Amino acid sequence: MDPITNPYAPGAGTPPRELAGRDKVREQARIAIARICVGNPAKSLLMVGLRGVGKTVLLDKIRQDAVSVGIETIRIEAPEGRSLPGMLVPQLRLALLKLSKIERAKAVAERGLKALAGFAKALKVKFGDIEVGLDFDPEPGLADNGDLQGDLTCLLEQVGEAARSANTALVIFIDELQYVAQPQFAAMISALHRCAQEKLPLTVVGAGLPQLRSLAGQAKSYAERLFDYPAIGPLSVTDAASAIVKPARELNADFTDAAVAALIAQTHGYPYFLQEWGKHSWDIAAATPITESDVMEASRLAIAALDESFFRVRFDRLTPTEKTYMRAMAELGAGPHRSGDIADKLGRSSSSLGPVRSSLITKGMIWSPTYGDTAFTVPLFDELMRRIMPAWNAPAYE
Ligand SMILES: Nc1ncnc2c1ncn2[C@@H]1O[C@H](COP(=O)(O)OP(=O)(O)O)[C@@H](O)[C@H]1O
Ligand SMILES: [Mg+2]
Repeated sequence: MDPITNPYAPGAGTPPRELAGRDKVREQARIAIARICVGNPAKSLLMVGLRGVGKTVLLDKIRQDAVSVGIETIRIEAPEGRSLPGMLVPQLRLALLKLSKIERAKAVAERGLKALAGFAKALKVKFGDIEVGLDFDPEPGLADNGDLQGDLTCLLEQVGEAARSANTALVIFIDELQYVAQPQFAAMISALHRCAQEKLPLTVVGAGLPQLRSLAGQAKSYAERLFDYPAIGPLSVTDAASAIVKPARELNADFTDAAVAALIAQTHGYPYFLQEWGKHSWDIAAATPITESDVMEASRLAIAALDESFFRVRFDRLTPTEKTYMRAMAELGAGPHRSGDIADKLGRSSSSLGPVRSSLITKGMIWSPTYGDTAFTVPLFDELMRRIMPAWNAPAYE
């Protein structure tokens, strides 16, 4: 069928036509933000899940929902190798400038901009990537001690006050939160804790890989009380069917029931894969309704496309030693696997593999669902590893 009208959208952060199965989390976020807006306590949301389950597009949808009811928002993505303050400060400045245009919030927002100036000046030495235009001179003693935790707390308090004066809330959306370095994450949690105690209308909605939950707990022991961790996973059969069928029906096309069932079986309901299979099934089908055999034929192309993009970008970031470790995991199947079993496959001791395991965790390739277990953060990655490195000759370790 016509590839120009193809309604499917595989791609990191590419919004789907039909955001299936996420109404509950959106509602949870809506309520939390609305509560914070009126000074009621609510936990911040950190959404956790594997790659490709739809965390980024959900984060963006929740942001749109908030903006549509007059909430101030900023959005950052924590990339590897940049500091949280470096990312946060320019965005906070924009939010404060916006709030300062509102007459009743002007004075408080301007004080916030002074805090921002002090913060940037005091921490620039520590975080070389803080680059921001300064609109006011710092006020001595306001967020300028040079200690991240204290200064960030003071800065976010000022921002929260400004939002309150404007009768709104400020929500900070942060994607890929697992990449924030631990002391910076700890400082952020501590600052949020303070804002919550003061009932300030400021909160974070974050998203990240499943290890985020234990990272937060390690950063601050009271993180459990501050955050809810909605798990974002594959779609249920009904939701996966909507994700596939609804965009087609909007264009007067359809899938046979057998085609839908095949699609769900092939993709295990993972949103990224649903989009990829949907796209290729549409392109391959000669006419509506799209049939099971169209889907089966599309599978080959969908897998090839994933190997070239979604999987490939992850695989290419691995060192040879890391590849061998991941290949040994794949040999054991989808996982999770006992770390000892992986070590056995490699003919090594678990402790000698500690460094490679922890660098894979830092890169966001694997995580530990429970103590001593190791799992892939990318669904179906075991199959990719076996496709891309077909021969398993244990161990290729130097
Ligand atoms: N709820 C959903 N229903 C249908 N498709 C979705 C849904 N969530 C995500 N997708 C699709 O899945 C892909 C991956 O989404 P993304 O937000 O980048 O995942 P993540 O951030 O978890 O890696 C995108 O192509 C997106 O359109
Ligand atoms: Mg994402």
